[in-house]
Amino acid sequence: MQTTAVAHPNIALLKYWGKQDAPGNLPATPSLSITLDSLTTTTTVAEADFDQFRLNGQVVADAKVLRTLASWRRHHPIPPLTITSHNNFPTAAGLASSASGFAALATAVDAHCGLDLTQVERSELARRGSASAARSIHGGFVILRGPDWQAQPLLPEAAWPLQVFVAITAAGPKAVSSTAGMERSRTSSPYFDAWVASAEVDFAAMRQAVCARDFNALADLAEASCLKMHALMLSSHPPLLYWNGVTVECLQVIRALREDGCQVFATVDAGPQVKAVCKLDEAKRVEGALGQVAGVGRILRAGLGPGAALRQGRPRSC
Ligand code: PMV
Repeated sequence: MQTTAVAHPNIALLKYWGKQDAPGNLPATPSLSITLDSLTTTTTVAEADFDQFRLNGQVVADAKVLRTLASWRRHHPIPPLTITSHNNFPTAAGLASSASGFAALATAVDAHCGLDLTQVERSELARRGSASAARSIHGGFVILRGPDWQAQPLLPEAAWPLQVFVAITAAGPKAVSSTAGMERSRTSSPYFDAWVASAEVDFAAMRQAVCARDFNALADLAEASCLKMHALMLSSHPPLLYWNGVTVECLQVIRALREDGCQVFATVDAGPQVKAVCKLDEAKRVEGALGQVAGVGRILRAGLGPGAALRQGRPRSC
C-alpha cells in the first residue's frame, strides 16, 4: 500500500531570505511566488520498519527530511516510512527542489496517514520542511506572509499565463544551503534589518501589480527584489556569491531585451541558474537570446502550474 503525490517547484518573484529567531521555520519576510508546471517532484510513501529516503534512485541520509518528519510526528500519528522521490530537474541548484519536495511529501503523508488536513494545514506542514514549500501547495501566484505564515493563493495559473525559462549555467548542488546562508545573513549582514524593514512595502506593491496584471510593474519589482536579496547575500560574512560568470551574462542579455521593449524580466535564487519570466508572445525571442549565451547548458521551459496533488493510491489510516 503506497501513496504518490506530485508537486511543482515555485519561483519567488518577491524573495524571502532570513528566518525568524523562533520555532516553526518562520520566514523573516513575506514572499510572492509563481508555481511552475513542467518541472515536477513525484514522491511515494509506504510504511516500513524504519525511515528511509530515496532521492533520484539513491538512498540519502537527508538530515532535513528526518528533522521534518520528527517535527510532524509531534502533532500527527505518522509511522516509519519509505519515501521515494524523483525530480525531473536538477536537484539543489537553486531550482527550489526542496519546495516541491516537501510539498509533495506533505501531500502524500497527509493522504497516506489519513490526517485529513485542510490545504492551509498541509501548507503549514510543508513549511516546516522548507518555508518556500508552503507556497508549492497552491498553483499560480501565491503569497506567504505573517502573522500566521500560511501560504494563500493569490491568482490561479490560468488567470495570467506567463512563460518561464530556466537557463542552467552550472550543474551540481550549491556550496551553501539556503538555511545556512540565511542564518549567515541574519547574524552578519549590516543590511539585514533594512531588508526586513522594507519587505512589507515591496510585498504590497507586488501584490497590487499582480492583481492588476501589470507586467512592467511586476518586472521592476521582481528584479529589484532579486538584486536586493543578492546584495544582502554579498554583504554577509563570509560573503555569499551564488552566481557565476554565465549568470551575469544571462542577466545582461535579459536586461538588454527589456530595454529593447521585450516584456521579460529575470530572477535568480540561491544558485547560479537564471529564470526569465515573460509574456507568452515573447517566448521565442527570450529563449533564442538565452540560447546564444556561451555557457548556458540547458534551457528548461515552464508555464504556470497547479498546486501539489495526489497521483494515485487511496488515503488510509495509519
Ligand atoms: O525555504 P527555502 O529554504 O527553500 O529558501 C528559499 C529561498 C529563496 O529561494 C532564495 C527565496 C524564496 O522566497 O523562495
